[in-house]
Amino acid sequence: MGSVRWAFRCGSWTPSRSDWLFAARCVQQEEKDRIGQFVFAKDAKSAMAGRLMLRRLVCERMGIPWSEIRLERSPRGKPYLATPLKVSPNSGPEPPSWSFNLSHQGDYTVLAAEQGLQVGVDIMKTTMPGSSSVPEFFRIMTRQFTEYEWSVIQSAGSEQQQLAAFYRHWALKESFIKAIGTGLGFNLQRVEFHLSSEPLTQKCVLHQTKMHLDEEEEEDWTFEESLLDADHHVAVALGPSNTAGAAPLRPSLPPPTSFTLLSFTDLIASASPLTEEDPVCWDGFKMKAEAPQRQREMHTSK
Ligand SMILES: CC(C)(COP(=O)(O)OP(=O)(O)OC[C@H]1O[C@@H](n2cnc3c(N)ncnc32)[C@H](O)[C@@H]1OP(=O)(O)O)[C@@H](O)C(=O)NCCC(=O)NCCS
Repeated sequence: MGSVRWAFRCGSWTPSRSDWLFAARCVQQEEKDRIGQFVFAKDAKSAMAGRLMLRRLVCERMGIPWSEIRLERSPRGKPYLATPLKVSPNSGPEPPSWSFNLSHQGDYTVLAAEQGLQVGVDIMKTTMPGSSSVPEFFRIMTRQFTEYEWSVIQSAGSEQQQLAAFYRHWALKESFIKAIGTGLGFNLQRVEFHLSSEPLTQKCVLHQTKMHLDEEEEEDWTFEESLLDADHHVAVALGPSNTAGAAPLRPSLPPPTSFTLLSFTDLIASASPLTEEDPVCWDGFKMKAEAPQRQREMHTSK
């Protein structure tokens, strides 16, 4: 069974003109247009990295030539592969299909993909709330977590540690929502996370955290948690695939996989242009501010 975890550090990516123009040629026209509309360079870069990662995955792991890959979105926005897979009649049983998901927040774009399982990924950077105090920020967010989860978050220690616990829970919840693809319509009180008693450090991938859905422990779902660096929590939700003939999640659960950091050269390793060079793309990109003022101040004050 295949398993892929990739991360790209968009925050420190300063693309050259030729890199940006090449990247723009290698994604579908509608995505190139969408990326061009972001106000801030940070968002344009993370969306671009996400598209290149997805296409690299499909090309290298699913064996579809770059130029034939057609990615579309579900009505709720989740990308999926619309190109039919070619299965030769003599190649034996059909291999389990891949599921993939992207997340971008803070300084990274991440991709998680898994064969035979449903996957959702979420990355969250621990940051101080913008205009309110930590207790006020938590008060505004009350409805996102259950009473039990709040008790864990608020007993985590210093405000910084409470925020880290908050974003850890957030990433877990969101990874599940993203795996099932429902987006904003899901009642977040229905899922409750019970964290692993093992400490989460940058050296390991934890997979002991449990999810309760409607107050019942969900045996079929596994959550891999990692820290890409001290501030960035990533959660990967793995659940039973909803395609017919899918493999059961247990007992052959894959060992947890850690994220591999990719360079821009890695992102475009299999890429081939889909469209002509469009210099306007670069003119638009170089005019963008990196991020909103407050985020830039926080970045430079670290
Ligand atoms: C898209 C959504 C599912 C997640 O958005 P987000 O956390 O802001 O953004 P992320 O960076 O993690 O993920 C964005 C990526 O997820 C993918 N995505 C989009 N819609 C999706 C959906 N319905 N399901 C799964 N993945 C989706 C896309 O690849 C998107 O990136 P792209 O547009 O550049 O291709 C959002 O619509 C949502 O519903 N958020 C829930 C908000 C909330 O209340 N969370 C509380 C948690 S405690």
